[in-house]
Amino acid sequence: MDSIVVRGNGPLKGQIPIAGAKNACLTLMPATILSEEPLTLTNAPRLSDIKTMTTLLQSLGAEVTSLQDGKVQAMSSHNLDNHVADYDIVRKMRASNLVLGPMLARLGHAVVSLPGGCAIGARPMDLHIYGLEKLGAEIELKDGYLHAKAPGGLKGAEMELAFASVGATENILMAATLAKGTTVIRNAAREPEIVDLADCLRAMGAQIEGDGTSEIVVQGVDRLHGATHQVVTDRIELGTFMLAPAFCGGEVELLGGRMDLVQSFAEKLDLAGIDVTETKAGLKVARRSDRVKAVDVTTEPFPGFPTDLQAQFMALMCIAEGTSVLEEKIFENRFMHAPELIRMGASIEVHGGTATVHGVEQLKGARVMATDLRASVSLILAGMAAEGETVVSRVYHLDRGYERIEDKLGAVGAHIERVKDQ
Ligand code: UD1
Repeated sequence: MDSIVVRGNGPLKGQIPIAGAKNACLTLMPATILSEEPLTLTNAPRLSDIKTMTTLLQSLGAEVTSLQDGKVQAMSSHNLDNHVADYDIVRKMRASNLVLGPMLARLGHAVVSLPGGCAIGARPMDLHIYGLEKLGAEIELKDGYLHAKAPGGLKGAEMELAFASVGATENILMAATLAKGTTVIRNAAREPEIVDLADCLRAMGAQIEGDGTSEIVVQGVDRLHGATHQVVTDRIELGTFMLAPAFCGGEVELLGGRMDLVQSFAEKLDLAGIDVTETKAGLKVARRSDRVKAVDVTTEPFPGFPTDLQAQFMALMCIAEGTSVLEEKIFENRFMHAPELIRMGASIEVHGGTATVHGVEQLKGARVMATDLRASVSLILAGMAAEGETVVSRVYHLDRGYERIEDKLGAVGAHIERVKDQ
């Protein structure tokens, strides 16, 4: 297993290209199941999670070819010959559950293992099941697998999600495109990845309105056809790299960055003393003075502050002037980075879903270990501003969500390298 070694250093300068969104790609890929014709995704990120989804789709009988060094995913599901999403693949990644809705819609039945994924809370699937049952599916849990069937086909229905779950909205939306009649999803998630999925499904012939708002209306069609779709920019990679100059000073341009993807995050950065400006090629970020200011943050569904940027922001607050309060409202148990940051000299108190961070002047390098994707990258950012050397082990979490992170940060002047563990 590899580790990443980071040495604290001064101002950064240069440009970082932002990849296509992991989370968008992970829901766009299963959309191939909905059609017999090919679906091609451009601007796909080169990540291990994308490889896991490739393996899963191939296990179902889909053809998936990675082209242009993984940036293009060419897929075809003309010959699906297996309807069981096996535990050994699904446990590696929660997003595997996104094959459930499409399989049910296309084949009328599906067996999908309950997922694993990041260890950041219980993450049940009750909302997915609620929505698919509203569409007429019968679902039972046996031996750790969800057994779903819709013998008479799926039928459009009106429903209201108890929480605006991203994955449940995606699964229900995909299933509804081939259901008979009209489906209305109330309290739907509004994340940009949902809009990207709806754009792709429309290119495949689906009739969808209201994506990006909390009420999505789908008019079912008999079949979907092939399409080519460009994956939206990764707003979490964007937000993560926007923080690099906040830690180290200097000025970095994020190529392909869009303000509408990170509005609430950029507002918090502004309060902390970081300028974010739009350029022709993306977003430019610069720290206004030597030390950032403490800012309180509460995570919320989009367009609120994203939970996937909470760990990285907490790392920044560790060296801010003053005390900040961070509230995690999306996942329980998503402060596992706090004890590791404390090992680097941070002052953090965690009580349930609230973390109070007392900023210190300087963090100190240490050997640290992360237990999930965003926690890992928060430790790298912290190491970039710490005195001495930080070694982040278990970087396979990082490779799930950041392509070539050492190259991208190294290109703007960060002292970062990947080393093979002995
Ligand atoms: C997606 C993202 C993840 C992000 C999260 C919230 C992907 C592949 N992953 O995850 O990076 O952190 O959105 O923005 O897109 N819940 C239920 N019942 C359900 C489903 C969810 O109670 O049936 C709860 C979860 O336990 C969690 C909350 O709802 O507390 C949010 O989950 P959800 O929006 O579904 O996140 P994911 O789609 O899993």
